[in-house]
Amino acid sequence: MRILVTGGAGFIGSHTLLALIEQGHEVACVDNFSNAERFIPQRVMELAQSSFPVFETDVSTWGALDAVVKQWGKVDGIIHFAALKAVGESVAQPLQYYHNNLVSLLEVQRAMQEYQIPNLVFSSSCTVYGTPKQLPVNELAPLQEAESPYGWTKRMGEQMLKDAVGANNGLKVCLLRYFNPIGAQPGGRIGELAKGVPNNLVPFITQTAIGLRQELKVFGNDYDTPDGTCIRDYIHVCDLADAHVAALEYLSQSSEPLSVFNVGTGKGMSVLEAISAFERATGVKLPYRFAPRRSGDVEKIWADPAKIMSTLGWKPKHSMEDAMRDAWRWEQTLATERKG
Ligand code: NAD
Ligand code: UD1
Repeated sequence: MRILVTGGAGFIGSHTLLALIEQGHEVACVDNFSNAERFIPQRVMELAQSSFPVFETDVSTWGALDAVVKQWGKVDGIIHFAALKAVGESVAQPLQYYHNNLVSLLEVQRAMQEYQIPNLVFSSSCTVYGTPKQLPVNELAPLQEAESPYGWTKRMGEQMLKDAVGANNGLKVCLLRYFNPIGAQPGGRIGELAKGVPNNLVPFITQTAIGLRQELKVFGNDYDTPDGTCIRDYIHVCDLADAHVAALEYLSQSSEPLSVFNVGTGKGMSVLEAISAFERATGVKLPYRFAPRRSGDVEKIWADPAKIMSTLGWKPKHSMEDAMRDAWRWEQTLATERKG
């Protein structure tokens, strides 16, 4: 298939471009590089030993995808990653988040109608479940009010797509609700680029281990969990990338207009367990201390991935240790490049 990947220079997008090429698909990358570096798509090409077009385009500009589709030609599907994703920033700059994330999704759908592109995979998040009443959480769990403008853009994005397929315009959509993506390509050539001080746990761990940060603050040790720290379902980015390929292949053969899948491992892990996994995987001791709870944090959440496993035949192949080792290798690559 010929797949257009918006946000393809980003963390999940770059790994997905690689997985698509490795599994025989043709790709084009669209990114405005607002949260990515230009060398990333080049690295994907090196790793894949094949080249693909990279369009420097802001998808939140109405009509922006016209030039892309006209230049690249027939498109069988779009994976829409392009979005702003920093939760705290979205609270400070809500309009920027609503504009970027929602107008880009509208533009993608406009182009799909205009050029009869049938298949769309949308990056959603387990954030739509809020604090779930039952664990593990499956796709039928009620959605809850979002905690931030970023979270609302995912809730609203899902709703927009439900309404669009409801209008029966030939569009087929797969919503993938990611749990916590971590790790990097196993050779450490591509990975997550955290701008400024990282908000997410694993980039903070690797930056602390390499000496960029003094210590990790563990946000809260008085939660109702076995060791008092929050529980999440951490998924290796390469497994997540494979889920996108499987979703597209499924969409192309299915007549179901809307499908929704959790993408997680099904295993909950606490912050302290994540630290231990990092230490075991790398042999590096991590300095950390307990700090107050972070506002907006969910106490515990992990996925029921039964649906994606049975419907798409997908299952995670990488362990938490693999993810930590790969994230660490990527941090070391960045350190070497900073010196050079
Ligand atoms: P990322 O920031 O690394 O990648 C997003 C990419 O989109 C970046 O390369 C950025 O430059 C680009 N982009 C942003 N706005 C754009 C626009 N208007 N036009 C063109 N390009 C634009 O983020 P990621 O972690 O790879 O996330 C990918 C998607 O997955 C996002 O939609 C995000 O909300 C969603 N998601 C991420 C996580 C996570 O923990 N990383 C969890 C759940 C959902
Ligand atoms: C956060 C966002 C979520 C978003 C996701 C992916 C919040 C409240 N939630 O999820 O909306 O979809 O990122 O981008 O921001 N932790 C520490 N110390 C740190 C960093 C994190 O203890 O320095 C803990 C957190 O309290 C949490 C766990 O590590 O328990 C994972 O945190 P993080 O990686 O930020 O992901 P989420 O909170 O799950």
